[in-house]
Amino acid sequence: MDIITTIKGLKNLGMEILVASMQYTIQRGKLEKKFAPPKDDSVTPVGQLESWERIESGATFNFTSAKLEVVFIKPGLPRLTWTPGTLPGNTVVNKNSFKPVEVAIDEGAFGVGLESDGLKLTVGKDGSVTVADLDGNVIRQDEPPIMTGRGWTSRAAMNDDESFFGMGMKASPFSVRGCEFSLWNMEPRGAYKAGDDPLYISSPAYLSVSPRGSYLAFFDNSFKSTFSFKERLESRFEGGALRYYLFTGTPEENVTKFYGLVGHAAMPPRWALGYHQCRWSYENEAQVREIAEGFAKHDLPLSVIHMDIHYMDGYRVFTVDRKRFPDLKKLSQDMLAQGIRLVTILDPGVKIDPDYFLFKQGRDQDLFMKLPDGELVRGVVWPCWCAFPDFSDPAARDWWAQQYKVLIDKGISGFWHDMNEPAAFAAWGGSTLPSVAVHKLEGRGGTHLEAHNLYALQEAMAGFEGQRRFKPERRPWILSRSGWAGLARYAWHWTGDSESNWWSLQQTIRIVLNLSVSGVPYSGADIGGFGGNPDKELYLRWFEATAMLPFFRVHSAVFTPRREPWCYDEETLDITRIHLRRRYSLLSYWYTLAAAATRTGSTLVRPLYMEDVKLVGVDDQFMVGHSLLAAPVLEKGCVTRKVTFPAGNWYDWETGSMFEGDTTAEVLAPLDTMPMFARGGSVVPVDEGNQIELRVFIPANDGPGVGGELYRDAGDGYGASLLETFALVRQDNVVTITRQATGDFRPEATDMLLKIVGSHKSVSVDGRALEGDNRLIPFDFSTITINLD
Ligand code: GLC
Repeated sequence: MDIITTIKGLKNLGMEILVASMQYTIQRGKLEKKFAPPKDDSVTPVGQLESWERIESGATFNFTSAKLEVVFIKPGLPRLTWTPGTLPGNTVVNKNSFKPVEVAIDEGAFGVGLESDGLKLTVGKDGSVTVADLDGNVIRQDEPPIMTGRGWTSRAAMNDDESFFGMGMKASPFSVRGCEFSLWNMEPRGAYKAGDDPLYISSPAYLSVSPRGSYLAFFDNSFKSTFSFKERLESRFEGGALRYYLFTGTPEENVTKFYGLVGHAAMPPRWALGYHQCRWSYENEAQVREIAEGFAKHDLPLSVIHMDIHYMDGYRVFTVDRKRFPDLKKLSQDMLAQGIRLVTILDPGVKIDPDYFLFKQGRDQDLFMKLPDGELVRGVVWPCWCAFPDFSDPAARDWWAQQYKVLIDKGISGFWHDMNEPAAFAAWGGSTLPSVAVHKLEGRGGTHLEAHNLYALQEAMAGFEGQRRFKPERRPWILSRSGWAGLARYAWHWTGDSESNWWSLQQTIRIVLNLSVSGVPYSGADIGGFGGNPDKELYLRWFEATAMLPFFRVHSAVFTPRREPWCYDEETLDITRIHLRRRYSLLSYWYTLAAAATRTGSTLVRPLYMEDVKLVGVDDQFMVGHSLLAAPVLEKGCVTRKVTFPAGNWYDWETGSMFEGDTTAEVLAPLDTMPMFARGGSVVPVDEGNQIELRVFIPANDGPGVGGELYRDAGDGYGASLLETFALVRQDNVVTITRQATGDFRPEATDMLLKIVGSHKSVSVDGRALEGDNRLIPFDFSTITINLD
């Protein structure tokens, strides 16, 4: 943010808040001193292996001063736990019992080897751990860990050819090799810039990718920690046992297995995949209606309008300002009649106001965060002094869940959880609460050092439960600024307050991809950046790129000029329309990807190294599912760009021209164009009004193609569904597509359209030739045969 926007931002906070945040910062400093535990700089090595014993699915090892348990929770998937130290609760990994796994164990000169499903893990007599395949190729080499203070430090070797991805949202290069991060969810002061750390959302998971193989390490420890990718891999935790899981396989398999452990993403309602329009704030009913009218007038599709903090009564969470929104229920009904959902923001800070029902309840029922002396934790957010629910307390979550009723009854369809790192305005030091706060932590008790990173995840648990309770026939939808591994089970994420510049746009792609592989498959950034004034070119390029990211929303700060698609000029309006239409024409494709993420743990967007590990360096292109390759323009003034094509053959989405795989090409990308390509051998469902067009892309080579899928249901709720798979094979100049279907859902339109991209001679469907312009095929066809010569 430049100086002018910063001043405008501070002005917007108001004098009362500025003074209070100074007071808060001073008070916090005193509390940190008063309640700080005695310094503990001790360094204790684990010592030597003294004995070991076999247990179900693994073994335990007694070292001079520590204990290691190795358990294969699935064949080939080890979990290592070094104690002493508090074990994690079940918030992130909620499975504690696993089916027994057969493990072959042998003791040799160097240690004890445990073998399962092609993986050999050897525990050395000094506490080192080597993970290798059965040919002896080392996948990961851990040094003996060390107890440092009240926590553990884990160290492992890095090879020269390894790149690392994940860790949540980082303002870092794409591969995080060479970086060091603090895992302590935090609102940066102002918009984030390159190198700022920590940021809103972290995840203690990283994926190693090298030509020799790949693994994913996930540390189930939410304590404040530091992860370093400098000379070696180092993870230093300020408390808790050292528990981690090692997933091995291809990058894609590792990520999928990781989601299998921390939970697949919740199935979103279909509308959430459409376009969202937001602004801090649409300040009253008239403005919300004006936005809906604007979209209708300009013939732009719109699924959601977000309502930022002005809708509340004095920023009191779960209230509505009756002057600005006299009849919110009627407004949401009118919006719904136009196909538009309303989403409202919720902040966790509860205004300290003895006359405010929520504050009174939270205080009287002991549901707020406390200091060690039993006093309330007090911090400053939009309503000035606030208390904060202790979301680690099941009773607090239950109470919070109950509050959603008032907004659900008014027709609100989804919730936007903001300021939940948790944020508290501070004049210096991090913008968050005192680290000496204490928590209920599911009844076992603990400190903020352990609960902080889980705060937003546990808030999302409450929000999800509240929606299930009060609209059981609909799927919950939450957008959360902060989170941790496991968030996908409940919420999506947006990347907070980004700057309005080209770096921020470029970084968005890196962040969304790194979030995807570390536990957050649905994310996107405020189009145009949050706090500035993007020019037309930046706005359009950001809009075009985001049209192919999971979360598609324009948002802007209160002190910036308005940014709806019609705020620039006719050309901008026309170009946004093209990309909105492209998004809506691919909604069934997105929805099918969403269903696959829920069913299998796959991600919606995929980095190019999932196609080919040689492509680890490509951070400005991405796959959407397995069929589409997006290559957005991310640089000012460019009207062409270099595209790297993975193996196979690729078709320009708009023109159908073909590109060979394993090549690069310079493609045209004028301002209205976001280069996108479909993989030969794919079958992509495209929405044409209420009909589906199956678009088949002819593969260049014989063999199976990726084919495609189409998932359909009522768009929300938990009723019948239909999953169709289209297996594609090319052999001897004949391409055959075979349809298989499971489920009882019956789509309204009983015909589909067929479009074939790539040169071919004739087409028949279930033995009947498709002649002339006829592209209609029955929706329940069995086989399409395409003759190429
Ligand atoms: C925070 C959010 C931003 C929101 C603003 C006001 O800065 O990140 O998206 O508009 O608060 O609620």
